[in-house]
Amino acid sequence: MLVDLVLKNARICLPNRIVEAGLAVNDGRIVKVSKEVNLPPACESLNLKGNFVLPGVIDAHVHLRDQDLSYKENFFTGTCAAASGGVTTVLDMPNNVPVTMSLDSLLERMKIAAKNSIVNVAFYSAFPKRLEEMREIVELGAKGFKFFFSRQIGGVSPEDEESLKIFFGEAAKLDVPVLIHAEDKAFLESKMEELKRNGRCDVSAFSEAHSAESEVKAIKHAIKISYGSGVHIHICHVSAGKSVDVISSAKRKGVPITCEVTPHHLLLSKCEMDLQGFIALTNPPLRSEADREALWHALKGGVIDIISSDHAPHALYEKMKKSVWDAATGFPGLETMVPLMLTQVNNGRLSLLSMVRLMSKRPSEIFRIRERGCLREGCFADFIVVDFKREWKIDSSRFYSKAKFSPFDGKIVKGRVIKTFVNGRLVMDEGEIVGKPGTGEIIR
Ligand code: DOR
Ligand code: ZN
Ligand code: ZN
Repeated sequence: MLVDLVLKNARICLPNRIVEAGLAVNDGRIVKVSKEVNLPPACESLNLKGNFVLPGVIDAHVHLRDQDLSYKENFFTGTCAAASGGVTTVLDMPNNVPVTMSLDSLLERMKIAAKNSIVNVAFYSAFPKRLEEMREIVELGAKGFKFFFSRQIGGVSPEDEESLKIFFGEAAKLDVPVLIHAEDKAFLESKMEELKRNGRCDVSAFSEAHSAESEVKAIKHAIKISYGSGVHIHICHVSAGKSVDVISSAKRKGVPITCEVTPHHLLLSKCEMDLQGFIALTNPPLRSEADREALWHALKGGVIDIISSDHAPHALYEKMKKSVWDAATGFPGLETMVPLMLTQVNNGRLSLLSMVRLMSKRPSEIFRIRERGCLREGCFADFIVVDFKREWKIDSSRFYSKAKFSPFDGKIVKGRVIKTFVNGRLVMDEGEIVGKPGTGEIIR
C-alpha cells in the first residue's frame, strides 16, 4: 500500500514512553508507528532529524470570539494562532455576542468555524432558556455547558438555586460536564462595591474583589449541586491553593470533578501586575507565590487534570483603561502555552510524558474528543514536531492572534513547535501558516 506521508527519524511520544521511530499517515489517520524499515512506501517522506513528535495539544479553554466580537478575534485568526502554537483542537467558550446558548446560535458558530478554521474546533454552550433545548444542543455536538457563578451568561441566573439544580441535573442525564467559572456573585459584588466606594481602581483592588475566598465559595457551591445530581463538574482556571485543597478532598470523596490550570497561573504571580499593569490583568487574577507553588504541587499530585490556555483576546485599547473596573480581563494564550510548558520540561519541572498527558491525552478523555490526543495507529493524524532544544524569544507583535500583547512578551523560552499537522495535513511550517481554512474539523 502506498500511503500519503511518512515521517522518519523521529522521537515519538507514546502514552508511556518515547520511541525512536517513524510514523505513517494515510487519509488523515495515523496508520503506523514503527521502526523505519517497517514503514510502508509513501507519496511523501519527511526526515525529522531526531526531533520530537508529540500529539497535537487539545486546548479545552479558548475564547475564539468571531461574530460581533470579530474585532477581538475570529475563527481564522484564532485557529492560526492555535496552529502556530502547536494546538490542533480547541474547545470554544460560549460568552460570545450573540451568546452560544441555543441550537440556532451553536449551529451558526459551527457554520462559520467550518469554513474558516485551520485546526479542529469543538464547542461548549451556555445553558439555554428552555431546559428541553439542552438535549438538542448536546445532540448537535456541544461538549459541555459553561456556567459562570459570577454573572448571568445564558438562560440561568446564578442566584436561581432551583433552576441550577434542574439544569445541572439535566447535564448529568445527558452525560456531559458542566464547566464552572468559579466566583461567588454576592461575595464578589459586595467586595467590589466596597472597594469602589473607597475610590479604589488599581490592580490590587481587582485582586481583592476577585478573591481566592470567592473562588473557593463557588467551587463548594458547585460540589454541593453535584452531590445532588451526580453531574460531572469541571472547574476552569483554578488559581488558588485553597481551591485545590477543596477539589482534592472532593475527589477523595468520589465527587465527579475535574479541573484545569493555566500556564499563567502556574508561572506568574501578582507582582507581575505591578510590573506590567493591565496587560497582565486576567480573571481569576494572578495570585501569590504560595498559591503558585500549591498549583504546581497539585499538578504533580494529579489533583489538577489538565492545562488549558484560557486564550482571551481583546483589542489593546480595551485593556488600556484608567480604572481597573473598565479594563478588559484576559490575554491571548494559544501561541505561548506549548513553548512555556516545553521550557518547564527543559528545566526539569515537568516530564515530557506528563506534559503530553496534561495537554493532549486527558483533555481528549475528559471532553470526549475521540481518537485524538494520542499517537496511536488508527487515530487522527493531529501531531506536532518539536525542536526541544531551540531557544527563542516570545514576540507578541508577531502573533497570529489579533491580540498582539502578552504578559510573556520578551520572555526567552526553550522548545519550539516547528510543524503542526491537523488531520494529516501540514498547517504550520517553521512559524508560517500553510494550511487552508477548512482543514480543521468541527468535532461533535
Ligand atoms: O479573564 C477572563 N477573560 N476571564 C473570564 O472569565 C472571561 C475571559 C474573556 O472572555 O475575556
Ligand atoms: Zn472564566
Ligand atoms: Zn475563559
